[in-house]
Amino acid sequence: MPKESIQQFHEEFLKSEELKQKVRTITTYREMIKLGENYGYYFTEEDIAEANATYQDDQKVSLNNISINSDENSNQVYHYDFKCSDIANFDKIALEFEKLKIKPSTVDMNEFEKYFQNDDLNFTSISPSSLEFKSYYDDIIKSDMRKKALEPFPEYTKRSFHLINLDLHVEHQLYEDYFLSKFRIIQFLENLFDTEVKFSGSLWYPPNSYRLWHTNETQPGWRMYWIDFDAFESDKPEKSFFRYMNPQTKELVTLDEEPKIVRFFKVENNSDKLFWHCIANPTQFNRWSFGFLIPDNWMQKLLTRSEDNSKKVGNEWAYKN
Ligand SMILES: [Fe+2]
Repeated sequence: MPKESIQQFHEEFLKSEELKQKVRTITTYREMIKLGENYGYYFTEEDIAEANATYQDDQKVSLNNISINSDENSNQVYHYDFKCSDIANFDKIALEFEKLKIKPSTVDMNEFEKYFQNDDLNFTSISPSSLEFKSYYDDIIKSDMRKKALEPFPEYTKRSFHLINLDLHVEHQLYEDYFLSKFRIIQFLENLFDTEVKFSGSLWYPPNSYRLWHTNETQPGWRMYWIDFDAFESDKPEKSFFRYMNPQTKELVTLDEEPKIVRFFKVENNSDKLFWHCIANPTQFNRWSFGFLIPDNWMQKLLTRSEDNSKKVGNEWAYKN
């Protein structure tokens, strides 16, 4: 019985730190159902929603169950980009990230390409603070809402999301290994930051893909993204980029990308200073990005590890200057 099954899964979740850590590794209900199956429990998305409605907040088997307090600095720096090689010990986890760069066989690329719209890609150049922004943005939202009613259509049929959410593709032969690599990465990052860390997105940006302007305001706080490509040519005019509007100055900031970078940025939920951002990969190469909810003191943790390391040679989690 699915109802008993979800209850038993919930009981196991409350008792097992390992299962809690696995839940922090996933981002979609499809992954939750798959995880349940691996533990011998069979339930549906509706069963999860129905069961969660009866649990206290801190007991929910939720996909967003860690809360991160956001500080209120007046002169906030909103992003930091590093090369992976500049963060010590990230080389130890690089192989696991490499294994996440998959192209699931369940994605129909011909179908995907049909949904490309050049005007939508160009919308990434329009500032959210400009007068022309709102009507185009509203159009996209309306169109996506109509698509939502038709779910489970593939995620890329939505105009705002012309890319692949890898965590929605669980029925292919690479998924089990992919999940285990994600799990090992969560274990590594929780050791590094000395607190709970949660995956926030596992995304494949094929050539000519984009994620249009959005704010992620329902999950404020710092994100860390590991970003990589399958190939790269620095002399091409088309560049893959992350663009955001500085919430305080309203200035547009465009971060051109290259392989193997780690990006930190801060999402706001104050309606006056939302963190509007968008991503585009107009190149002929594939881009992957894997994101995490991380604590506000992430930089201090990296630096502390560095100090520990200078005192004790061989410390596993050092930060290289
Ligand atoms: Fe985002």
